[in-house]
Amino acid sequence: MKASAPGKIILFGEHAVVYNRPALAVPVAQVHVEVEVLDSDSAGVHIHAPIVDLHAELNTLPADHAIGSVILKVFSTLGISSPPPLHINISSTIPVAAGLGSGAAVSVALIRALAVHLAHPLTNDQVNEMVFEIEKLHHGTPSGIDNTVITYNKPVFFIKGLPIETFKVGRPFTIVIGDTGISALTKESVGDVRALWQKEPDHFEGIFNEIGKIVLSARQSIENGNPDLLGPLMDQNHVLLQKLTVSSPELDGLVQAARHAGALGAKLSGGGRGGNMIALAEQASAESVARALLAAGARRTIITQVG
Ligand code: PMV
Repeated sequence: MKASAPGKIILFGEHAVVYNRPALAVPVAQVHVEVEVLDSDSAGVHIHAPIVDLHAELNTLPADHAIGSVILKVFSTLGISSPPPLHINISSTIPVAAGLGSGAAVSVALIRALAVHLAHPLTNDQVNEMVFEIEKLHHGTPSGIDNTVITYNKPVFFIKGLPIETFKVGRPFTIVIGDTGISALTKESVGDVRALWQKEPDHFEGIFNEIGKIVLSARQSIENGNPDLLGPLMDQNHVLLQKLTVSSPELDGLVQAARHAGALGAKLSGGGRGGNMIALAEQASAESVARALLAAGARRTIITQVG
């Protein structure tokens, strides 16, 4: 049995989303995780995940291992106390710890492939719930946006704890993603923002409110078929993320480079400090924005169409 899951990017609203403001995120089909589950001749559950250099039998992994714990969770949820001999291959083109949702995508694809192979297919709601539980183990206080976008594979207007709400794209638009190549732990930037917020709640609540307003304007522009208006909104959202201290010289450099190359706006995307930035570009100039990002030090770029 094979299953796959896409990457994702947050268009607007990261960090503020942890504090119950809305955020917009979309799947990125250009990168994905694929999981294949096969019956095995030799006893045990054998895992092969070259992307993290993992070739091991499940029982030899610590209980909190990122991949091992997902497999154990599937067995316990499905009430399987002695799993059959299995061979699990995990391959991925999603860079790790870069804000593209690689962890959630591995979990989604792994849970689906295992559940179907074990003849217990799960609904999207069940998969989403399980992946959120796993995200909590590894990321502290996640909002749940990653697991939601990746499980349902749809553009999502997300508010923590509320049912999934998708949104329409009135006119397609092009996003260029630039990867700083610096891996940064979302858990750390989220923890740092929390410490700042605890010290000066009014000030940071104000910033989260401003981000929330940008998200609502952005949703309206996307639905009304005016994606050009997203450029200035990205620029404003980036300034607010700088105020949250989650940008970095490298992210700021790529954001500037994209704007100089003709992007309509740009911002960091995801947890920040490293990982990715995104730029809104006219379709005709997307390639030159991507080239400018590489020249400014981006490790890789992805051009993706939304809608
Ligand atoms: O770094 P990413 O793309 O996984 O995104 C994190 C988004 C945050 O809003 C910073 C955290 C969260 O849980 O929503």
